Amino acid sequence: MEIKTAQLHPLFCAKGKGIDMRSDNSPEKISALKSILDEFAVYAAPHKVPLTNEEHIAFSSLLGPIARKSAPKISGTGNRLPFDEIVDQSNLDGENKIFQNGDKRLAYKRANRQWHTDMSYRSNRATWSLLSAHVVPPDGGETELADMRAVYDDLPEKMKLSLEGLIAEHCYWHSRVLGGGPEPTSEERATRPPAQHPLVHTHPRSGRKVLYIASHVRGVLGMPQNEAMGLISELLTIATQPKYVFSYKWAVGDVLIWDNLATIHRGTDFDDQRYVRDMRRVTCREH
Ligand SMILES: [Fe+2]
Repeated sequence: MEIKTAQLHPLFCAKGKGIDMRSDNSPEKISALKSILDEFAVYAAPHKVPLTNEEHIAFSSLLGPIARKSAPKISGTGNRLPFDEIVDQSNLDGENKIFQNGDKRLAYKRANRQWHTDMSYRSNRATWSLLSAHVVPPDGGETELADMRAVYDDLPEKMKLSLEGLIAEHCYWHSRVLGGGPEPTSEERATRPPAQHPLVHTHPRSGRKVLYIASHVRGVLGMPQNEAMGLISELLTIATQPKYVFSYKWAVGDVLIWDNLATIHRGTDFDDQRYVRDMRRVTCREH
């Protein structure tokens, strides 16, 4: 079954017309959507009215197993959205009030403005993320994405060879601190242990080779720390050149699906003390 698409960037990213995630749930439609995602890695579906939390979860579960909150809420984040399947990516606390500057919870959320791929710090990696826009700020707050398949393809052969077999260690807390957040307590640290993944992997569906890096990376096995972090920094600089990046400008009701095994992304700055940005994510996982 065909889903009409417009390509948003020369390398990747498609925008759909005529898919309604409330009703387009036939196996044929889901299979067609997955094929589009294998080709374009990112798919945007506008909706006039944002999906409800229940609709968001129901559609996402058609794509694959859904990640649930793995650890009890720490730092008093509150429970604005009482669903284990939904990651609250807003700047709102449990009472729907904007987090104030200096709040550690906000500092950790701001760390998502660094380039990353979702949940690479888990051994069971994220496949697709489905981010739904409920409230968007008037300026900023876009989502930028980079095509890590094209990035890998363009690497010099010598570099490809040098990356072969390397394993990176990804840690959630590394990127939180790097992004300006406070050191976690040892109790917090224990809730999210690090995970190790190859720096280059073959995409399980498309078969394309992908550079798998993120601001979560805190080291490369068997490599001196300085050298490892220098390598990751160099690779991130290469990967985020404008030719590989697409910036998605949100409208309320949009659902953006991206393949975490093929892309990296970041949120861009906005005035998070003045404007609400209410984004909600459901994440599919490998197993
Ligand atoms: Fe993310």
